Amino acid sequence: MKDVMTAPFMVEMIRTATNMYDHGWDERNGGNISLMLEEKEVKEYLDPGAVLRTIPTGFEAPALEGKYFLVTGTGKYFKNVQYAPEVNLGIVRLRDNGQNADLLWGFTDGGKFTSEFPAHMMSHEARLGVDAENRVVMHCHPANLLAMTYVHTLDEKEFTRTLWQMCTECIVVFPEGVNVLPWMLCGTNEIGEATAEKMKTARLVVWSQHGIYGAGKDLDETFGLIETAEKAAEIYMKIAHLPRVNTITDEQMHQLEKRFGIKAREGYLD
Ligand code: 13P
Ligand code: ZN
Repeated sequence: MKDVMTAPFMVEMIRTATNMYDHGWDERNGGNISLMLEEKEVKEYLDPGAVLRTIPTGFEAPALEGKYFLVTGTGKYFKNVQYAPEVNLGIVRLRDNGQNADLLWGFTDGGKFTSEFPAHMMSHEARLGVDAENRVVMHCHPANLLAMTYVHTLDEKEFTRTLWQMCTECIVVFPEGVNVLPWMLCGTNEIGEATAEKMKTARLVVWSQHGIYGAGKDLDETFGLIETAEKAAEIYMKIAHLPRVNTITDEQMHQLEKRFGIKAREGYLD
């Protein structure tokens, strides 16, 4: 059996959590990540029969029965992940229709997965329904996207169009746009269900006055999605109080669609 600390998924997870912290997106215990693993890659490092303990999830996610996840722990600081991965991260496998999670590695201080596990697992289910290759759900608190939810309408089309207008390549990176939830109580099944519903039509879901969720095929892609949206929000927060003299027009957006072979969300461009 190989050392799990050498597993590419572990190395990449630690690098990503550290990078997110370094970007200022994850103050204190803010943010959480879940990465779906293949059974065959887990077996190279862990005995799938060696269950350390079983943790109830409090929800059902039948489509994820038997699936493995490397996930951040609740109350854990992203800044500490690189120094003590086995305390701050865990590898779990869902069973009983997703109502229980068998812990195979990590959370060595008796901890458990993020309080946002419902939103993560329900979002995985939703994204897998759209894209069989989806592996990652990522949540964090980037300052400019958060700030934007205080001063910009939360209408999804308007919010998306503003972000697209802030950097030329936004529409290329997230042509489906961003979906937006109003303020809701975090850590609940309700916000999990609402997030998953929004994940059916976009890989980015803004939680107003809280943060953002991203989903993607791998950690890099998902990080890049949030990074791009957050950059656009940063430009917006720099210019929102100034007269807008120039912008990216819908006609130019159509040129980008042609050039990059993408299709903007139906009805979002004139
Ligand atoms: P956890 O520490 O439980 O992951 O919660 C952090 C967070 O961002 C809640 O939305
Ligand atoms: Zn949060």
